[in-house]
Amino acid sequence: MTILGIETSCDETAAAVVESGRRILSNVVASQFDVHRRYGGVVPELASREHLRAIVPVVRQALEDAALAYRDLSAIAVTCGPGLVGSLLVGICYGKALSLSLNLPLVGVNHLEGHIHAVLLEHPDLEFPALAMVVSGGHTHMFWTTQTGPGQLSYRLVGRTRDDAAGEAFDKVAKLLGLGYPGGPAIDRLAPRGNPRAVRFTTAKMKGNTLDFSFSGIKTAVLRHVQAAGMEEEIAWRKRLLEQNPRPSIEAWLEAIPRPTLDLIASFQYTVVAELVRHAVAAAERENARSLIISGGVACNTQLREAFRSETVAWPVYFPPPKLSTDNAAMIAAAAYPKLAAGKLADLTLAAEASLPL
Ligand code: KG4
Ligand code: ZN
Repeated sequence: MTILGIETSCDETAAAVVESGRRILSNVVASQFDVHRRYGGVVPELASREHLRAIVPVVRQALEDAALAYRDLSAIAVTCGPGLVGSLLVGICYGKALSLSLNLPLVGVNHLEGHIHAVLLEHPDLEFPALAMVVSGGHTHMFWTTQTGPGQLSYRLVGRTRDDAAGEAFDKVAKLLGLGYPGGPAIDRLAPRGNPRAVRFTTAKMKGNTLDFSFSGIKTAVLRHVQAAGMEEEIAWRKRLLEQNPRPSIEAWLEAIPRPTLDLIASFQYTVVAELVRHAVAAAERENARSLIISGGVACNTQLREAFRSETVAWPVYFPPPKLSTDNAAMIAAAAYPKLAAGKLADLTLAAEASLPL
């Protein structure tokens, strides 16, 4: 079965062709980086417009890269939520149109389920039950994941952020410090140059479900630090630098970032990573997991990957490769495969749901 996956939930227009839920024949991602960069974050209206521009060429490219024609496809899979409604609608409408005109089954996929299946693409034999953490710009959610049949998974939410997602914290702190957008990759590159223990951030003690997260406090703490240390001028200078050169080399960055700022960046990342690892380990222990799955854009983070490989983590930990950690459509086609096999199809009433639960 050859599935065309379509993903347009946020700011990447993506299409991929995946065979039997496993073999990636093509994986095309068109980034809207240059459109949103100047605003320091995703502008929903612009995102929808860019998806409209990109969807046809991106799908065509995915078929071309896979050396397939439309008639070779077995099904169309499309992300139906959670995400930006205007963005989701572009993918859903296009997916419906393809399904109708080609007379192919349509499968609606939850974006978070896609992120979890990104891991299974490379590690199909990982052991369940697993603790799956999706950590991205929109989510910091932990799911207790069990296998109910071949490729069929069921999910129970065990912890989530009560405010900002971890990736959102990376993005907001990077914006605050004049490091551009998206913030995660910039902070990831710069953090090893600073002292992670220079600034002590306290993390919120959660009432109720202690497995929940909160990242808005650390963002405010960084802001206070910036104000107290009088860093405004330095930040304004970096923003000007970024306007001239949106993708600075590490050498150019290091010239523009004084040591105390590098320490602040390192301390911020250290605190967020420690919090993610602490919660994942606590959840895995509580539920008796056989393995850990870490996915979503923040799963690209070097320090996070290292921390999960440390001896304190007793479980086998599985990450997708970076290209499959951030938003892509291969994960959507992969997640659709067991649904298609089980006959869980969508029809033309498939709707975009901004807060679709998993
Ligand atoms: O999964 P994704 O592509 O989109 C969402 O579903 O949100 O994740 C994007 C998020 C952004 O917040 C970005 O800053 C973050 O992932 N990110 C990273 C890294 N690469 C991307 N965060 C930390 N370290 C990274 N290397
Ligand atoms: Zn995502």
